[in-house]
Amino acid sequence: MRRLVYTSHTPRPLSMQDRIDILRTAQARNQQLGITGVLLQSDNVFLQLLEGPREAVDTLYRGILRDPRHRDAIRLIDIVASDQAPLLPGWRMGFFHLSSTSDLIGDPILRNDDQDFLGRLAQAPSGDPVASLLTHFWHANRDSLQPSRGVRQQATG
Ligand SMILES: Cc1cc2nc3c(=O)[nH]c(=O)nc-3n(C[C@H](O)[C@H](O)[C@H](O)COP(=O)(O)O)c2cc1C
Repeated sequence: MRRLVYTSHTPRPLSMQDRIDILRTAQARNQQLGITGVLLQSDNVFLQLLEGPREAVDTLYRGILRDPRHRDAIRLIDIVASDQAPLLPGWRMGFFHLSSTSDLIGDPILRNDDQDFLGRLAQAPSGDPVASLLTHFWHANRDSLQPSRGVRQQATG
């Protein structure tokens, strides 16, 4: 099991269709590769966790780096730990747009459940760097967004 977290940013604003395209591709391909994780977006910044077999994460990440819809990726965490279970089992790529939920409502592929996500992270062993980073990024970006608080969305399978 390898866990890789990177951050990058979009050179131009992404449309809802862009996000749907990325996630449809991700959900199909990650299923084949045995990869799970989550893609967080806040304004033009991405933070993504890829977790799965070592070689599969490597192949996928190299492809993602070439994608012109984002740039300047920085690898923040890259851990190989054979005894670890995935943090987000079953999430063939979860997604949260932390700075806006308005464009997510109505599209099932973009819907994930806030409490489910935070609950799963909370179950990680104390001090787990991936869970800590994702939780921190989440709160730093989501908590300033008062109007959308309380919006509950369903996890994608
Ligand atoms: C921020 C971001 C995250 C992405 N995450 C994934 C992912 O988790 N899985 C995936 O298959 N593609 C993901 N993609 C799309 C890939 O970059 C790429 O377009 C897709 O895998 C097809 O690759 P290929 O052209 O090499 O077949 C992501 C793209 C972006 C911009």
